[in-house]
Amino acid sequence: MTDAGQRRNFYGRIKGKTLRASQKGYLAEDLGPLTLRGVTREENPSRSVLDMGFVKGPLWLEVGFGGGEHLVHMAARYPEVTLIGAEPFVNGIAMLLGKIRGAGVKNLWLHPGDVRDLFDVLPDACLQKVFLNYPDPWPKARHHRRRFVTPEYLLPLARITAPGAEFRVATDIPDYVRQTLEEVPPAGFTLVAQTGEGGAWEDWLSTRYEQKALREGRAPHYLTFRRL
Ligand SMILES: C[S@@+](CC[C@H](N)C(=O)[O-])C[C@H]1O[C@@H](n2cnc3c(N)ncnc32)[C@H](O)[C@@H]1O
Repeated sequence: MTDAGQRRNFYGRIKGKTLRASQKGYLAEDLGPLTLRGVTREENPSRSVLDMGFVKGPLWLEVGFGGGEHLVHMAARYPEVTLIGAEPFVNGIAMLLGKIRGAGVKNLWLHPGDVRDLFDVLPDACLQKVFLNYPDPWPKARHHRRRFVTPEYLLPLARITAPGAEFRVATDIPDYVRQTLEEVPPAGFTLVAQTGEGGAWEDWLSTRYEQKALREGRAPHYLTFRRL
């Protein structure tokens, strides 16, 4: 496992096409107030545990929220829950901020960066639910170790999830299903459900990536685990 003091490699995209003026405005005005303090190495070099005073009710996390549609949907549907979203892709963050304004939700906090930085500083067993929607597929075999469903991500995730917590994984890649079924249980989770197209969670909101997968003829898979 990577030591918390070391820099980590992040292989995904941080920036995409030019942001619209409105999106630049959301980033300038809303990102600061919604960002969790003390998560980055710059702000918290000793990696001390976060002050959890911001949490009201159960705490849920979405990893890699993309455009943020699922995260905002969950925040609006469950106002009694506190949600954290982690995503390093600036264009996605800007989209999320626009959706937060539109929905007027107040129970959502961000880490605009690598979720592993958040893993370092969250206290043990603090999360009641975790969403991993369409993680980067890394299709080439030599890149499979970059996938989220590897011990580098799953062991820290297991530490910060409460016993009984739900961990949801959605993917359109059959080989990702295989690796998820292989790697998640040894990290301390048990599989409770595995469904396919039409079998999403009752409160699911289809994401941009899922819509793209469906257009391109790839079928969704939904896996639900429970922390032991
Ligand atoms: C294929 S996209 C899916 C986005 C969204 N969940 C959806 O379903 O539309 C995967 C996302 O995970 C993000 N991601 C990859 N590695 C991450 C990490 N270590 N921490 C946080 N987000 C990450 C990427 O930036 C990307 O936006």
